[in-house]
This record gives sequence, C-alpha cells and structure tokens, in this order.
Amino acid sequence: MRTRTLPGTDLELSVVGMGCWAIGKTYWGDDVEDATSVEAIHAALDAGINWFDTAPLYGEGHADRVLRDALKGRSERAVIATKIGVALKGSSGHAESQLDAAHLRSDLEASLRRLDRETLDLVQVHWPCQHGTPLEETFTTLQELKNEGKVRHIGVCNYGPEALDELTNYADVISLQTPYSLLRRELEQEHLPVIERRGLGVLAYEPLCRGLLTGKYLKEPTFPDSDLRSRDDRFAGRFFVHASRVAHDLGKLARRLEVSTASVALGWVCAQPHVTAAIAGAKTPAQVRENAQAHRFIEQPEAVEVIEKILHRHRRSRPQS
Ligand SMILES: NC(=O)c1ccc[n+]([C@@H]2O[C@H](COP(=O)([O-])OP(=O)(O)OC[C@H]3O[C@@H](n4cnc5c(N)ncnc54)[C@H](OP(=O)(O)O)[C@@H]3O)[C@@H](O)[C@H]2O)c1
Repeated sequence: MRTRTLPGTDLELSVVGMGCWAIGKTYWGDDVEDATSVEAIHAALDAGINWFDTAPLYGEGHADRVLRDALKGRSERAVIATKIGVALKGSSGHAESQLDAAHLRSDLEASLRRLDRETLDLVQVHWPCQHGTPLEETFTTLQELKNEGKVRHIGVCNYGPEALDELTNYADVISLQTPYSLLRRELEQEHLPVIERRGLGVLAYEPLCRGLLTGKYLKEPTFPDSDLRSRDDRFAGRFFVHASRVAHDLGKLARRLEVSTASVALGWVCAQPHVTAAIAGAKTPAQVRENAQAHRFIEQPEAVEVIEKILHRHRRSRPQS
C-alpha cells in the first residue's frame, strides 16, 4: 500500500482509507452485519489501509463502536478521522449542522468516549453551519480543543472555496474532505486555487459514486427505503446511463489489468496529484480487498490516460448539472 503525508501533519495515510458510513447500519440498506463489518476492518488493516473515516452521525455512534471493537487488540494505533458538528433534530431525527462551541465540545467528548481514545488524529467539521454560527466561533473552538490536546489535527468537509479561505484564518485547518470521483469533478474548478494557496490536503469521499463506478449495475437498480440510494437521482435516468457507459469501459480496462472495475475507478482518484487519499466506503472484506488494489495506479500513468480517454469518449452522454 502506498502512503502519503497529510500536509502539515506527521500522519502517513494509506492512499486508500476506509469509510465507515455504511457500517453504522443506517442509510445503506438492511444487509449490514456487525460481524462482517469487523471482518472488513480487519481486511483493511491486512491490506495496509491504516486509517478510517467515521462520524457520530453514522448510526448515532454505532460505526464508532464497531470501529473501536474491531481495532482493539489489532491496531490500536490506526489513524481515526472523525467528523463532528451534526445534531439530530425533532421527532424525525433530522440531521442538521450545529457548530456552536457547546455542541462541538459535547460531540467531541462523546466521540472520544465511544472510540476509547484520549485524542483523535483528525477531527473534521462535518458540514458548514445551517444556523448562522460564525466561522470564527466554530474554528476558534476547534483550535482550543487542539490546544487542549483532544484533537491532533483539524479538517473540514463540504465547505466552498470562499469559506475555506476565511476559516483557515481562525484555526490550523489542514485538510478538506470533499466529494470527488470520475463522475464528480467540481473540486478541480472550484477548490484547487484555495487548496494550493493554503497548502491543504484533500480527502476524496464517495470515490465510487456510491457503487455506480464498480460496474455492478447492468440496469437501473432498486433499493429499499432504508438505503439512501433509493432517493439518489444518479441511480436513474440520464445520469445512470452515462455512469453505466463509463463503468462498462472501465471494466474492459480492468479485465486487461486483471483488477476489479472498482479499483480502476478508485485508482484514478488516488493517482490525482491534488488528492492525498481516497475514502472508499465498504461493507465486506471482499470489497475492501478490491478497493485496496487502487494504490497500484499511482505507478501507472498510462492507465490513468486511458481512463481520461474513456471519460472523453462519453462526455456527450453526461448530463449537465
Ligand atoms: N464528509 C461527508 O459529508 C461525507 C459524505 C459522504 C461520505 N463520506 C465518507 O466517505 C466514505 C465513502 O463514501 P460513500 O461510502 O458515500 O461512497 P462510496 O465509497 O463511493 O461507495 C461505497 C459503497 O459502494 C459499494 N462498494 C464499495 N466497494 C465496492 C466494491 N469493491 N465492489 C462493489 N461495491 C462496492 C458498497 O455499497 P453496496 O455494497 O451496498 O453497493 C459501499 O457501501 C463514507 O463511508 C464516509 O466515511 C463523507
């Protein structure tokens, strides 16, 4: 497994990290079993994946607990990245960003307890604030938590370039976690200037476009209501057609290289020079093992070129967003 230094830190991250959203057992269907999730985390460690992205939101702490138990006695030093600042509101438990000092502190304390750590390697703000808390309040609080030793490094997710530029004035923010894949490349147009100016690391989430880029969908799939993909427009209509064409051609390349389609799609993300690491969600050991192969693409610029040609070939079927 290849590693890269997360800029501004001493963290050497495997270029493929494991995302723990699905193992929280909410939003991703009814087929997630804790025992299999633990096996998947062990398979990740065996494959050289040394960091895990979790959040209190993932099953209201369930993903944290599964991760803690899986790492116990296996790799207590694995890097844990979490994402705080979301609260569940009302009787429906609707998730909203809440970034005032009191909530950030209590969310972090609860995370430390659940994950059984005294400090967390990377603590990211999960979403920008929906309630008008000033950036200054949020990020000076995170800086205080870092100064207190509860947070080793501060990151953010999902912020636009302007806010990113401002918030880096209030805290030692070192990374942006953002969606990035062969089907979603806004990062390149929108964020790269500020990322370069501020020297930030990039952690790419949803690199498989929730499974669309694995090539496993030969026709429009149906999902149970418990799976957020039942409400994801990308799994139907023109976007699905485009994604299927891209995945089909990635599959041909994958067969030539004797790897899986998923690892080709993920490999393209890992090979991008502005990406520090990709966060691949997975439910099973087999998925993790396939995804871990993606690191091989960093040494294969010719394969990355072929992938760009595939995208170019299908550019006309891509719906305009
Ligand atoms: N900061 C944020 O706001 C934010 C938002 C989203 C995600 N994230 C993080 O990023 C991580 C990754 O994103 P994501 O999980 O949304 O999407 P993703 O990584 O693009 O897709 C993950 C899903 O694809 C399927 N899959 C994975 N590997 C596969 C393989 N080799 N073959 C076939 N299917 C495979 C699995 O679901 P099935 O088996 O059910 O198909 C898996 O749950 C999350 O777990 C989370 O840690 C962060």
